Amino acid sequence: MTTGARTPAIAVLGSINMDLVTTTGRLPAPGETVLGTGFAMVPGGKGANQAIAARRAGATVEFVGAVGDDVFAPRLRAALTDCGVGVDRLRTVSGPSGVAAIVVDADGENSIIVVGGANAGLTAMDDDDLAVLAKADILLCQLEIPIRTVAIAASHARAHGTTVVLNPSPVTDLPAELWAHIDVAVVNSGEAARLGAALSSVPHVITTRGADGAEYRGPDDRSHRCASPVVEVVDTTGAGDSFTGAFAAAWHRGPRAALAYACAAGALATTTLGASVSIPTAADIEAALAEQTPPQSSGKP
Ligand code: RIB
Repeated sequence: MTTGARTPAIAVLGSINMDLVTTTGRLPAPGETVLGTGFAMVPGGKGANQAIAARRAGATVEFVGAVGDDVFAPRLRAALTDCGVGVDRLRTVSGPSGVAAIVVDADGENSIIVVGGANAGLTAMDDDDLAVLAKADILLCQLEIPIRTVAIAASHARAHGTTVVLNPSPVTDLPAELWAHIDVAVVNSGEAARLGAALSSVPHVITTRGADGAEYRGPDDRSHRCASPVVEVVDTTGAGDSFTGAFAAAWHRGPRAALAYACAAGALATTTLGASVSIPTAADIEAALAEQTPPQSSGKP
């Protein structure tokens, strides 16, 4: 299917984690203990965050993923259903759900360790999963589940005309056959440097640069840049996910508009602690964009 002007249908194949978030004045050095200033448990995972971001930005979203049968699972599932993400393809597997140990410092910078849990068990796609991918306008994936599953999904989606968007994070080398099925890649500047030439085969590449905005490179080296709205940063966790989900939801508007929309979504997500809970709605994003846009001249003196 192709993305038209209607509300896009997005299938997100990816991880869902319980984020165990500690705040501290500064990140500890190796071997060092520092005192923390706070603790929170917040649903996260790059897949779930991007699904929520796309849904809040107005897309119809189906999530394909896995939770465990532990105490975190009901809250993780509810994080998706509460905002209207479809969970028919969210399976429950035996064992722990994914967790992420996150430390956020006083400047809002973070360090994250993810333990895959149920996400690592997402090794196969059944016919019902594949049907969701084939029906969608966009398949959105990241790399917190087995790469072979991402490759199978991307190939199947492509074969059915679904646009494949990959956020290759956490970054790692990928097989050329997977890159061949990617229409759009969303990377941060570190990932762009690490992936280098591999990205040159991707028709549309978006590189995010934190507070410095983002840039788009399309076919025939067409390019656009966008600035980020100026915000007070509390926590950058999930900002890239907010950007990516919003970008996918706005892709049908064209690269320039989608880029501006996503820049606003990413910036707004840094203003609150926690990943999924900080993701802005379409109304929040539109309001930020309206503030950024200089008023049109009336033509009167
Ligand atoms: O991108 C932020 C996310 O990375 C967190 O929510 C955490 O779960 C890890 O997946």
